Amino acid sequence: MADTIDNLLHETRRFPPSEEFAANAVAKADLYERARADRLGFWAEQARELLHWSTPFTTTLDWSNPPFAKWFADGELNVAYNCLDRHVLAGNGDRVALYWEGEPGDSRAITYAELTSEVKKAANLLTALGVGEGDRVAIYLPMIPEAIISMLAVARIGAVHSVVFGGFSAESLRARIDDANAKLVITADGGWRKGKVSPLKPAVDEALALDHGDGPADSVEHVLVVKRGDNDIDWVDGRDLWWHEEIAQVSDEHEAKPFGAEHPLFILYTSGTTGKPKGILHTSGGYLTQAAFTHKNVFDLKPETDVYWSTADVGWITGHTYVVYGPLANGATEVIYEGTPDHPEPGRWWDIVEKYQVSLFYAAPTAIRGFMKQGRQIPLARDLSSLRLLGSVGEPINPEAWIWYRDIIGGGRTPIVDTWWQTETGAIMISALPGVTTLKPGSAQVPLPGISIDVVTDAGEPVGPDEGGLLVVTEPWPSMARGIWGDPERFKETYWDRFKERGYYFAGDGARKDKDGEIWLLGRVDDVMNVSGHRLSTAEIESALVAHPLTAEAAVVGASDETTGQAVVAFVIIKDSQKSAAAAEDVASELRNHVAAQIGPIARPRQVYVVNELPKTRSGKIMRRLLRDVAEGREIGDTTTLADTTVMQVIATAVH
Ligand code: WT7
Repeated sequence: MADTIDNLLHETRRFPPSEEFAANAVAKADLYERARADRLGFWAEQARELLHWSTPFTTTLDWSNPPFAKWFADGELNVAYNCLDRHVLAGNGDRVALYWEGEPGDSRAITYAELTSEVKKAANLLTALGVGEGDRVAIYLPMIPEAIISMLAVARIGAVHSVVFGGFSAESLRARIDDANAKLVITADGGWRKGKVSPLKPAVDEALALDHGDGPADSVEHVLVVKRGDNDIDWVDGRDLWWHEEIAQVSDEHEAKPFGAEHPLFILYTSGTTGKPKGILHTSGGYLTQAAFTHKNVFDLKPETDVYWSTADVGWITGHTYVVYGPLANGATEVIYEGTPDHPEPGRWWDIVEKYQVSLFYAAPTAIRGFMKQGRQIPLARDLSSLRLLGSVGEPINPEAWIWYRDIIGGGRTPIVDTWWQTETGAIMISALPGVTTLKPGSAQVPLPGISIDVVTDAGEPVGPDEGGLLVVTEPWPSMARGIWGDPERFKETYWDRFKERGYYFAGDGARKDKDGEIWLLGRVDDVMNVSGHRLSTAEIESALVAHPLTAEAAVVGASDETTGQAVVAFVIIKDSQKSAAAAEDVASELRNHVAAQIGPIARPRQVYVVNELPKTRSGKIMRRLLRDVAEGREIGDTTTLADTTVMQVIATAVH
């Protein structure tokens, strides 16, 4: 991170769009003027143009009860119909919707007609299993077509999905199932990862059986299991059902019923500054409008000719908005891939680009930096000439990675769109428009048309040119979160209290405005880490660590990491009673594995340091800033507010 900031302050390279790209671009500069002239009118026009409304809306924004927005509230639509049926009815049923590539090399091309029919069957199956309007369905699947089919089937019947990333542990899955009171879990026996089957169903069994004194999960009536890994699994009769057996018994006729624009579409859990993940709630009409608008204009989508690939898993917001809802609402042809980028060899992603002639490609900086390390000869050995636009998401992309991405993957031709957004914003908020904006490596640049963003001081005043501050959204936007599931107060406190009088949404990110007023993201300003573009909270990992019998106290920080952006570094104090037990084992690896088992492998600390004291203020607050200095090998900053100013010396000696 420190590197990124240093480099970007000196970054002066500029990349205007080529004449050819600009002439053929989907988005033209007039979008900005139209949105500026009438912001709400602009969004209403996009909603009408991009979506099919069963009942047209007459109101655009209802902001009478901030921060709970309603967009297009009296309109009705069916989200799945918008992503499927209408494309078939328009004569595009034979267009490929999904090119699915399994990790072992098996593949499937699924047309819009076929996908529509699969989703209709799945919708009938869900109804037969007693899932109705508003019921929650947990989805815990690998990247296989059934993941997308399940999400769309849930949407089609007006139920609410909660997709849980397959890398999360049984504990994390259970917490999400309980919070949402999910009625059904859709999973697979296992999925392919790194050449092996990685089991999923056993984690569901474990999750449902966990008993922390409150009994096993009682909301779940059925577990629907897709056969993918062919691994041996246990079976609970009456509860567990095979997807392929059930789906064979239902009709492929299903009429999509319209729902109100504010009908809940999904919950997606994300880490905050406390140990308990937040269920971010998104609804239908506004979300789909901004998903479709941004996917079309930021990625310059030409659905007749482009092949689009977002490498994100459906377990994250990028997978929701830019694998499922945006591309399918726009009738795009897209690639989805089950496995890891390096299996069976490091060039797998580029083989897939070549195989499907991918033209639009969206990935995270951490992956790009990983490829940089492996060397340019790997992508250069493939024909990547089909690519015409590259996207970046999840964390700041440092200028070096940006230039490498453009030169080596994009053949020096492709624009790169660095897209800033969050689970809570639902869709892209800040990005270049590729045929319009002159690109600056390292900067996310400008708010999209219709989006109002600023960088402000602690007092909420806009910062001047070349100054840094806090990133805020100053006006409501269509795909904004409608709340935190079951906890409206937490929604207000977390995002809206900081600049309450002004009514600004505070994103948790620091940013800088350059001389042109364009935005450079500087990372989180709260106790949230960003590891490989995935959000983790220090509190969540600390609470996993202190749940271990050896640990008395723990403090976790995000330290800059060359590949993953940030890495988890933990400092732990061992209980006195456990010190002799601890001496006998490798405490660091025991605790690293414990965190991975509790939360998931993405949360596994890079390092665990055993210390005798933690740096605390007189009021007992841990000063993570100082631990970050140690973890990043820097000179330790100001320690004068510590209760015991000698603590940091002792820690620094223990670590180095
Ligand atoms: C946080 C949101 C949005 C999908 C993936 C992550 C960081 C995201 C960028 C970017 C700099 C970025 C921010 C943000 N972030 N995109 N282009 N440049 N930082 O979603 O898990 O909700 O995390 O990711 O810190 O707050 P998320």
